[in-house]
Amino acid sequence: MKLFDVYPLYNVTPVSAKGIEVIDDKGQKYLDFYGGHAVISIGHSHPHYIERLKNQLNHIGFYSNSIQNPLQAELAKKLGKLSNCEDYNLFLCNSGAEANENALKMASFHTGKSKVISFDNAFHGRTSAAVATTDNIKINAPINQQQKVTFLAFEDFEGLDAALQTGEYCAVILEAIQGVGGLDEPSSDFYQFIQEKCKENNVLVIADEVQSGFGRSGKFFGFQCHGVNPDIISIAKGMGNGFPVGGILIHESIKASYGLLGTTFGGNHLACAATMAVLEILEKENLMKNASDLGTYFLSKAKEIPKVKKIKGRGLMLGLEFDFEVAELRKKLIYNQHIFTGGSANKKLLRFLPALNITKKHIDIFFDALKAELL
Ligand SMILES: Cc1ncc(COP(=O)(O)O)c(C=O)c1O
Repeated sequence: MKLFDVYPLYNVTPVSAKGIEVIDDKGQKYLDFYGGHAVISIGHSHPHYIERLKNQLNHIGFYSNSIQNPLQAELAKKLGKLSNCEDYNLFLCNSGAEANENALKMASFHTGKSKVISFDNAFHGRTSAAVATTDNIKINAPINQQQKVTFLAFEDFEGLDAALQTGEYCAVILEAIQGVGGLDEPSSDFYQFIQEKCKENNVLVIADEVQSGFGRSGKFFGFQCHGVNPDIISIAKGMGNGFPVGGILIHESIKASYGLLGTTFGGNHLACAATMAVLEILEKENLMKNASDLGTYFLSKAKEIPKVKKIKGRGLMLGLEFDFEVAELRKKLIYNQHIFTGGSANKKLLRFLPALNITKKHIDIFFDALKAELL
């Protein structure tokens, strides 16, 4: 059997990784400013993370959600406290798409309605309703296109108001900083307007924090830069530092009932241990502050490069926009400079999504390499 060939691959085969470095099968080291697509939050192979997972595996790795698993409640408590979201309840699943799928389903259950508002360039995952709210027709099959989704532009106050007044919508879903789309953000005024109008019209606000969450923006959640309180918050990626885990934080005003949501793997013992380790390291190493401080340092360095036309993002979710497409530049950074970076739907944007414990020295190395390739 061969693999179903859906990924265009760079010719690098990592066999080990430590901190910000990835090492390939030939012993070549690469600096990882991509974080495996915003997944590596606390660095590769962090000793505390390894210890916690090993220890958990030595006790119990998995049992289903039909028994008591106190690790889930422990995790909910710690996550609520660190994120300042103590008035939410936690449902655990396995990925970002699944988190959004459950968030949209909850909004529909809660309001009894089915239409959704999403935004231009949004990416919310590849499953049924999540992909329908993703602004990319190429990855929406006819079965997904049956969902009723309206796409609006950020800052379209009138369009949003008019749509919500129809009374047909169950949710507005948005990323505080668009990841795959290319790091565009709603203004605080617009985010607050969404919240106000949703309340008036019995519509839930879903904050997709799959990429911007878990400290990447410099705050625990990206929406916390905008003074809003979404009804549902979806999480994944940096949450498990590579262990597949996702979840939704559901405001306590939305009630649960047995069987409403469910999953086989979600919230298993290993997933809880991985997420607990991430939270403990975020707290102990003060990584949100590091993300914020180093984001500021990155911006100051980027301003020194005349070929950079625009700097986008916050914390360590950053992008440099050029007046040319960056695919070749990304290749040169990998093969000549041994540096991983990210791309986006905006083909002129080079993305930077490193672990949150990188240092100024790492950023200096990145900019020296970038300058060398831009000559
Ligand atoms: C904002 C956002 N939401 C959802 C997803 C989907 O997550 P997953 O690939 O874990 O299903 C992604 C993935 O890139 C994302 O960036």
